[in-house]
Amino acid sequence: MKPWFKYERIPGLLASSYEKASRMVIGGYYSTVADEIVAYIRQGSMLDLGTGPGYLPIEIAKRAPDIHITGVDLSRKLISMARVNAQKAGLSSQLSFEAGNSSRLRFEDALFDMVISTGMLHSLKKPVNVLIEINRVLKPGAEAWIYDPANVIQYIDKTQWRASLNLRERFFLWIFGILGLHKPIAVYRREDVIPMIEAAGFKKYAVDERNREIRIKVTK
Ligand SMILES: C[S@@+](CC[C@H](N)C(=O)[O-])C[C@H]1O[C@@H](n2cnc3c(N)ncnc32)[C@H](O)[C@@H]1O
Repeated sequence: MKPWFKYERIPGLLASSYEKASRMVIGGYYSTVADEIVAYIRQGSMLDLGTGPGYLPIEIAKRAPDIHITGVDLSRKLISMARVNAQKAGLSSQLSFEAGNSSRLRFEDALFDMVISTGMLHSLKKPVNVLIEINRVLKPGAEAWIYDPANVIQYIDKTQWRASLNLRERFFLWIFGILGLHKPIAVYRREDVIPMIEAAGFKKYAVDERNREIRIKVTK
């Protein structure tokens, strides 16, 4: 059953709890994905959609000093956190973060050498519109990697995470939980995403499914 009301963005009241969860997977999930990405590309311009607190772009920038990454997220609060995190890591010259909607990007056509996104697909109201935008902003022949763990929280030690939350964070998680306000719109399977990819005009693609995570690679 679909949630009765759907937030696409991480609500401001949950941003700090999410940031804490996200921080707990830097050494695991983000490091592994960053290694995979820099094995594929080491320079150029990259766009990270639904960047959250920016930890994946930070891990990529640490490994590849000739990559410039723009992170976009609907949540202004998470964008502010991402800017602070980039500054703390000393990577502000390689990373820029801005609030925006992935289904209406402000960028010109064929601008990026790669588009990446982790954990955003399942929260989108109109995923095909976002895939169309990805197709538009990619350079010809360039790839987008869209990884969608239905929830980054699946990779963390939940007891440790809950223990790190203050009373206010626990309260809002509880409220949003009982009202069912922040559930994924869908946990996508391979057969769900292939028609979306084709509807967005991609002819070359690979879709891999493992442990509640879908991994899409499309080529423009
Ligand atoms: C589960 S978080 C993943 C964040 C980060 N990529 C990560 O791996 O930790 C999904 C993010 O996508 C953002 N988001 C959802 N819909 C969006 C949209 N249409 N445009 C831009 N960001 C969006 C949310 O605000 C949230 O920060």
